[in-house]
Amino acid sequence: MKRVLITGVNGLLGQNLQRALAGTHSLSGVDLQPEAYLPGLNEYATLDITDRTQVAEFFKKRRFDWIVNTAAMTNVDLCETERERAERINTGGVAALISEKGAACRFMQISTDYVFDGAAGPYSDTAKPNPVGFYGETKYRAEQLVLGHSPLDCVVRIMVLYGTGKGLRPNFIDWVVSSLRAGKTIPVVTDQTGNITLASNCARNIGALINNDVSGIISFAGADILSRYDIACAVARHFSLNEALIRPIATAELKQAAPRPLKSGFLMERARAMDGITLLTFKEQLLRYEREQKDADYPANV
Ligand SMILES: NC(=O)c1ccc[n+]([C@@H]2O[C@H](COP(=O)([O-])OP(=O)(O)OC[C@H]3O[C@@H](n4cnc5c(N)ncnc54)[C@H](OP(=O)(O)O)[C@@H]3O)[C@@H](O)[C@H]2O)c1
Repeated sequence: MKRVLITGVNGLLGQNLQRALAGTHSLSGVDLQPEAYLPGLNEYATLDITDRTQVAEFFKKRRFDWIVNTAAMTNVDLCETERERAERINTGGVAALISEKGAACRFMQISTDYVFDGAAGPYSDTAKPNPVGFYGETKYRAEQLVLGHSPLDCVVRIMVLYGTGKGLRPNFIDWVVSSLRAGKTIPVVTDQTGNITLASNCARNIGALINNDVSGIISFAGADILSRYDIACAVARHFSLNEALIRPIATAELKQAAPRPLKSGFLMERARAMDGITLLTFKEQLLRYEREQKDADYPANV
C-alpha cells in the first residue's frame, strides 16, 4: 500500500481516482474548495498549489510515495483569455509541488493531447509537442518542468474525459443525451477527432501506472478514435434517441476563444504493452457509464 496524494481531488479525474485507488492505497486529497467527496480518503485538506508558502507548510508535516497532480485550470477558452492565471496554476503550481514534495516522492503530472497541434494525429508517446493554444502551452511547460526535475517522475497524457462525479460541469455525453431526449437539434463538430475516455477507466489505469512505478511519458485514452460527430451519433444509437437531430458542423463555426488540436488521438504504444492497463472501446465505456449512473457509489453530476 503506497501513500498517494491526489491534488485537484474534487475534480472529475480526482473523484474517479478516489474510487479507483481507495482500499489499495493510503489516499490523501487536496483541492481549493472544502466540499470534498470523501469515500476513500484518509485525509482531505484545502491547498492552493500556487501558494508556495502553503505548499511548503503542507509538505513539512507529511510524506507521500506518489503525488498524482490533477489540479489545473481546465477551461481551455478561459486559459486563452486569462493567461496569467492559467500560467500560475498549470505551470507555477507544478513548480511549487515538485520543489516541496521531498526527493523520495514520485510525481505524476496529468497532461493532455492539447500539447499537440492536431495536424497529424494520432500521436505516439515520443511525438514532439507543438501546442496551438495557451492551455496547451502551460501544460507543455509543466511537462518539461517535471521531466527535467527527475528521471523517476512521469507525465501522463490523457484526453476527452467524461464520467460521473459530484458538482461537475455537464459533460459532452450528458449534453447529447439530454438535448436529444428534449427533442432539440444540436450542432456537433465533424473535424475534431480523438479517443474519448471514461474517467473511471482512466483512473484505474493510473492505478496500474503507480503499481508499475512508471516514469517518463506515457499516453492513454479510450480504444477508439472518433470525431465528436461520430461520438454523438453512437450515443444516440446506444440510448435509442433521434440521430437526425445531430447537425454536422465545422469547429471554425463555433468561434471559440482557444484553437483546438483537430486531428488528435493517441497511438498508446507504451500503455498497450503495460500490465494492468485496459483500453475500452466506446461501446464498452457507454455500457459501464450507464451502470455507474445507476450506482449509488457514483454521485450524480449536479
Ligand atoms: N477533462 C478532460 O477532458 C482532460 C483531458 C486531458 C487532460 N486533462 C487533465 O486532467 C487533469 C484533471 O482534469 P479534470 O477534468 O478532472 O479537471 P477538473 O474537473 O477541472 O478538476 C481540476 C481540479 O483542480 C482544482 N484546482 C484548480 N486550481 C487549483 C489550485 N490552484 N490549487 C488546487 N486545486 C486547484 C479545481 O478546483 P476549481 O474547480 O475550484 O477551480 C478542480 O477541482 C487536468 O490536469 C487536466 O489538464 C483533462
